[in-house]
Amino acid sequence: MSKKITINSIKKSKGVSPLVMITAYDALFARLLESSADMILVGDSLNMSFAGKSDTLSATLEQMIYHTNAVAMGAKNSFLICDMPFGTYTNKKEALKNAIKVFQETPADAIKIEGGEEKADIVEYLCSSGIAVCGHIGLLPQAFRGEGGYKVKGKSEEEKSQLIRDAKALEKAGAFCMVIEGVKADVACEVAKSVKIPLIGIGAGKDVDGQVLVFSDMLGLFEEFTPKFVKKYMDGAALVKSAMKSYSDEVKSREFPQDIHTY
Ligand code: KIV
Repeated sequence: MSKKITINSIKKSKGVSPLVMITAYDALFARLLESSADMILVGDSLNMSFAGKSDTLSATLEQMIYHTNAVAMGAKNSFLICDMPFGTYTNKKEALKNAIKVFQETPADAIKIEGGEEKADIVEYLCSSGIAVCGHIGLLPQAFRGEGGYKVKGKSEEEKSQLIRDAKALEKAGAFCMVIEGVKADVACEVAKSVKIPLIGIGAGKDVDGQVLVFSDMLGLFEEFTPKFVKKYMDGAALVKSAMKSYSDEVKSREFPQDIHTY
């Protein structure tokens, strides 16, 4: 996709065509991924996939800014969303200060924050200050310690009603779209129908307005664990290891470099 999608066309895509979102953390992969993506999310999942940590909680604003700039260098025509890390939007003032820092120090088009109804006042404050906000409801990775684990949502009537309230509150607050993560598919479908802005699913079934995956999961590069909702579109880990083994074997046997690689 050569032309950057706009917030208006993201909103208008609802009910017309599913949106494709993918994460990226560096220029190299961003350049490879951008041609088929509507939006690139510089997710705080980079703390796990890129930095090797066991969760997202220790990602910092500086890290997010660094990686957003790297992604922007590779994906010059993409709509970029920078994930606000844990602890950077606990109240309106902090959220705005940190979101402004992201907007001033990177070319991000929007930020993403986790939380529903309880974050609506912050989302409204950010939107009214000129910051485009993508919400994130359902399973919230930044809340996993407080909730005692990563829990799929939408398993009870009460959870379903809360999700609908969350989606409506974020829409009213001015979010232009939201991620819905780890929610039973039938419930995610109802939540998506309850609002006019697109819901981008991850582990939320097919009846939502788009999908997002972590690129290293999608490419089969992340071996530690594979959540049920991930489809590996290639076995990246096996391909990388096999290429590395061939290189290593050829160095040891002096088969590499050959004349064509030599000055
Ligand atoms: O950090 C991230 O990559 C995310 C996606 C899983 C939606 O928030």
